[in-house]
Amino acid sequence: RTVYVNGDYVPEAEAKISVFDRGFLMADGVYEVTSVLDGKLIDFGGHCKRLARSLSELAMQNPHSDEEWLAIHREMVARNDIVDGMVYLQVTRGNPGDRDFAYPANDVAPTVVLFTQSKPGLAESPAAKTGWKVISVPDIRWGRRDIKTVQLLYPSMGKMAAKQAGADDAWMVEDGFVTEGTSNNAYIVKGNKIITRALSNDILHGITRAAVLRFAAEAQMEIEERNFTIDEAQKADEAFITSASAFVMPVVEIDGAALNGGKVGPVATRLREIYLEEMR
Ligand code: PDD
Repeated sequence: RTVYVNGDYVPEAEAKISVFDRGFLMADGVYEVTSVLDGKLIDFGGHCKRLARSLSELAMQNPHSDEEWLAIHREMVARNDIVDGMVYLQVTRGNPGDRDFAYPANDVAPTVVLFTQSKPGLAESPAAKTGWKVISVPDIRWGRRDIKTVQLLYPSMGKMAAKQAGADDAWMVEDGFVTEGTSNNAYIVKGNKIITRALSNDILHGITRAAVLRFAAEAQMEIEERNFTIDEAQKADEAFITSASAFVMPVVEIDGAALNGGKVGPVATRLREIYLEEMR
């Protein structure tokens, strides 16, 4: 693979980052994941906008304009012959040359890294036909989940707990209410109504969430942005998650309780179809 490091496109074996990089030592960095379908970046504008916001919330310089980011992403897709897959982008606060809790002065340049992952047939994922099983875990993450930081250890633990339980993902629960999945936003469906937690610092403001809610409204579906419990979710008609990498993924089981008879439901299926049709 060809990866991108601070302006250079290099074979992955030649890429070098300092051991003092704050991304490595302190998870002091942010990231974005943009899907590629048929060689085309999906909703890149949204990811670029959120990247700028994440950087700004952490008082980090944005090293590139939106046009430059787009050009780098396109170059990575081309150099790695990506038809279906994704582009991962990470910006950290760079290498101050030592370990220190205080941020370094502004003359320390951020570290920019990109790589691609090839996922042939990404949009035709067989999992979308059978749906995911999820378990619930307490949400003990920090209070700024709206910033897309590389601090992903707790979501990794949640994913492992899910795997050990024979499930596909974990929904995190705080004060009795579902916040989001380990790397996706969570929804339940009651009749023609889609229910999902409102935006706040408690969850990541999903780019896929924004698009799916827009398409749902255009399709005359009702949307309620409010908290819901695991108990309510287990009694819902359907559930699903959204993310840049899974698009719209139906959820058929929550903590052992089957929804819609354990089968993928019509609303999640329709939203997935609409999303893929509109975005590709
Ligand atoms: N994760 N919530 C969390 C905690 C996430 O990590 C993500 C994305 C989302 C969905 O956001 P979006 O629709 O913009 O992808 C919600 C990415 C895909 C990842 O970490 O791989």
